[in-house]
Amino acid sequence: MKVVAINGSPHGDKGNTALVLNPFLEGMQAAGAQVEVFLTKSMTVRPCQGEYNCWFKTPGQCFQQDDMQTLLPELLAANVLVLATPLYVDGMSGPLKTVVDRFIPMGEPRIEFRADHCRHPGRSAVKDKKMALVSNCGFWELDNFDALVSHVRAIARNLDATFAGALLRPHGPALHAMLQQHAPVTDVLDAARDAGRQLVEKGVIAPETLSIVSRPLLPRDLYALIANQHLAQRG
Ligand SMILES: Cc1cc2nc3c(=O)[nH]c(=O)nc-3n(C[C@H](O)[C@H](O)[C@H](O)COP(=O)(O)O)c2cc1C
Repeated sequence: MKVVAINGSPHGDKGNTALVLNPFLEGMQAAGAQVEVFLTKSMTVRPCQGEYNCWFKTPGQCFQQDDMQTLLPELLAANVLVLATPLYVDGMSGPLKTVVDRFIPMGEPRIEFRADHCRHPGRSAVKDKKMALVSNCGFWELDNFDALVSHVRAIARNLDATFAGALLRPHGPALHAMLQQHAPVTDVLDAARDAGRQLVEKGVIAPETLSIVSRPLLPRDLYALIANQHLAQRG
């Protein structure tokens, strides 16, 4: 099984998003998957120019010569696609959205009906493709992710992929700080690892496992107090 993960955090492998993404991918690897990670911060990907050259002039290929030329073949061959992003203004980060816009060459210039909706047929030969979301946010409440989850579910439907679940880490900066202080929060990382194993071995992730990834780490008032002290010190 081939897994492709795209991490849209400007902090790359050192960020809060990677803190949950990495054990998730380790779990998949431990279950036998071949995993490749792409960091948008290390890639050059220009915005889609909306020319449709990739449909009509050079089918399946964008005219722009950048790192999408490496990523696109990997995406077409992937059984699992993981989108990972910090929550930015209630959605995915700009660099990740730019990459997702450049998925357009994976579709064909015709409309078909799937689940009673207009869709473009895909060029990928992989059947039963799965998608997962990993995200991290600064606010405390889990529902801050609602708009992003809804968006990524829609992307999965467009790509004819099954949305396999979301590893959401609200008040994410607290996880990093609490791990450094050896607070009892490693169950979150263990659950992310378990989620990866489950996705590869069973094709689904148990809701209970996802709940542990998202569990409250500290009371909301305390988080706001500590966050405000931290923000005041930085200012
Ligand atoms: C431009 C920007 C927009 C953000 N928007 C939100 C937001 O809408 N809601 C939220 O809870 N956190 C928001 N955050 C906080 C980040 O999601 C949070 O710090 C996250 O842990 C960063 O992950 P990273 O270290 O992987 O980049 C925002 C941060 C930035 C820089």
